[in-house]
Amino acid sequence: MKSAQATVWGLGDYPKIARLTDQAAVPLVDACAISAGQEVLDVAAGTGNVAIRAANEGAAVTATDLSPGLVDLGKARSAEEGVDIDWSVADVEDLPFEDACFDCVTSVFGAMFAPRPAKAIEEMFRVVRPGNTVGMSNWTPDSMIARSFGIIGSFFPPPEGVPSPFEWGDEATARERFEPHAGTVEIERHRVDWRFGSREEGLEFFENAGPQAAMKANLDPDTYAQMTAKQLELIDELNAADEGVVIDSEFLVVVGRKRG
Ligand SMILES: C[S@@+](CC[C@H](N)C(=O)[O-])C[C@H]1O[C@@H](n2cnc3c(N)ncnc32)[C@H](O)[C@@H]1O
Repeated sequence: MKSAQATVWGLGDYPKIARLTDQAAVPLVDACAISAGQEVLDVAAGTGNVAIRAANEGAAVTATDLSPGLVDLGKARSAEEGVDIDWSVADVEDLPFEDACFDCVTSVFGAMFAPRPAKAIEEMFRVVRPGNTVGMSNWTPDSMIARSFGIIGSFFPPPEGVPSPFEWGDEATARERFEPHAGTVEIERHRVDWRFGSREEGLEFFENAGPQAAMKANLDPDTYAQMTAKQLELIDELNAADEGVVIDSEFLVVVGRKRG
């Protein structure tokens, strides 16, 4: 499953999708109070939305992701933006770092995709120093993204026995998973605000990379058309604009402070 995930997230042009997920990096950097002098680890970092913001705040940043292709893109992006980030390939369930060596560990829509949630959160807390923070941005179960993944799953079912990534966006579940490691857990609700010229333009945008690109490449054209018809209906249902498309997909920002 992990090698498939590394391939799927490395498909196509992820930097375009990263422009959409960047809206969720801002509240997480704020909620974790990332600042100059801290040592920060961004896991499942993609091409480095949080990592680059943290480095611009003056933090010393390490970024990791399961997909070697995204790590290469992240390295190129940080070089282009003139920030120094230490990039490597790593699975969030098995982080290649010593215990208690970071001031903050973050993940935007990343660690939520690891198949063993308890292992992922244990690793994130293991590498953070006592008294310091682990923060995640997680799509809620009713968000546009969760519902779109639900449509994908009805055509291409996920492996049995793996919990839904969107359980991380349920407040009670997130709290229950953080609490064994954290003295305090703060949860905020936020929404991204995505604008497209039309429903078709919105769908095409997601075809640039990740699971939607994988479905387009691997499903037969008729099945793919049936799937996208349902996704277009979803966009119509959630569209908040009279002209064009405005989608505000909800996510939780969950920040836990490690017991000292
Ligand atoms: C939706 S992308 C989010 C990327 C980035 N954080 C952002 O905000 O754009 C999901 C990311 O999770 C990564 N990922 C999935 N499972 C992972 C795992 N077990 N360990 C590390 N990264 C993982 C993928 O490779 C992908 O980069």
